[in-house]
Amino acid sequence: MKYPSLVSDILRSNSSYDVLAWASARINLLGEHIDYNQGYVMPASIQFKTITCLKKNGKNEYYFFSDHHPTVHLSGIKKQSHEKAWVNYLLGVMDKFSQAGVSIPYFDCTIISTVPVGAGLSSSAALSCSFALALQNFLKLNLSLEELAKIAQWSEHEYAGVKCGLMDQTASLQGKHSQILIMDCLTNKVEYIPIQLSKEKFILLDSGVKHMLDNSAYNKRRQSCEEGFNSIRSHFPNVHSFRDVSLNMLDVIQNEEIKKRCQFVIQEIERTQLAVSVIKSNNVKALGSLMYATHHGLSGLYEVSCEETDYIVDELNKLPTAAGARMMGAGFGGCVLALVKADDFEHSLHVLEKKYRDKFALKLKHYEVTIDDASGCILPSIA
Ligand code: GLA
Repeated sequence: MKYPSLVSDILRSNSSYDVLAWASARINLLGEHIDYNQGYVMPASIQFKTITCLKKNGKNEYYFFSDHHPTVHLSGIKKQSHEKAWVNYLLGVMDKFSQAGVSIPYFDCTIISTVPVGAGLSSSAALSCSFALALQNFLKLNLSLEELAKIAQWSEHEYAGVKCGLMDQTASLQGKHSQILIMDCLTNKVEYIPIQLSKEKFILLDSGVKHMLDNSAYNKRRQSCEEGFNSIRSHFPNVHSFRDVSLNMLDVIQNEEIKKRCQFVIQEIERTQLAVSVIKSNNVKALGSLMYATHHGLSGLYEVSCEETDYIVDELNKLPTAAGARMMGAGFGGCVLALVKADDFEHSLHVLEKKYRDKFALKLKHYEVTIDDASGCILPSIA
């Protein structure tokens, strides 16, 4: 097995761990806010990894160390707050294993991560998924990656309060090198399609802002869609999911805000369905147009964009060196995913960085995207 270079570095400096497991950050080409609306999503796992290292400690406490957060030690599973809240993602996973009757020996847990935090790249899924994968190997269990993804999702719902879909955890564990996942969020089935770009590349432009102060805006979007769907279904009983809903059915929804949210969902599902053939035929121009259309919907109808990400996308839309761009992830800041000319974008990037700094007094960071195998695990004693 080929390990991420960070794993090799950790092993070189300390090989006494019982288990090392890793999971990835993700991008999402299209299908934003669609995983909990039973549509299709198109994520891919990328080069940023979170690694969980576990070692039985023979003490009476669990120790959690991180390169980004304060150390926490606990004798049992007890939700934490403030700066220690980062361990809740892990405690939720432990809770789920405990509920299944598994006893968890005390351990030292070290988390090392290269995933940018607050950038909308699913750092929390990478954390909980790498931990779930490490823990199941530590406990010598044999759950599938899909089951582990669901455990990590449960943890996010119950221990972090975000009623997220299953996209991030699926990509974080099941992504593959140079492949886009097409996830059917009704059945959770995953297919892979290769993405071959020769003259273009994906880059992430990090707005450097995160406006969402808590998770309520995300959970509210989910609730609005559920309410909208229930009204539609009460008038059209043959409708089983948003996939069966057409725009003219939206007339039965009285609340204008809910109507807008549902309009976005219907149109975004259509875009992801179109995108499959667009990617297969390598039609960069059409893929870029779908990305701009998604951004337009996320900004105007779903209202999860913000001034900074709107600005970045608008500026890219004026450039011949960018084929497409859109805000990515839950929204309210974070990253813009852009499809740009591989050789000619550098100058445009410098100009954009300067304009962004002048307008918002913020540094526009950027990350080149490498679509990479998502997860893995090793037991150093038998490696
Ligand atoms: C967050 C959630 C995902 C998904 C995206 C938006 O990343 O964790 O489940 O809903 O937002 O597409």
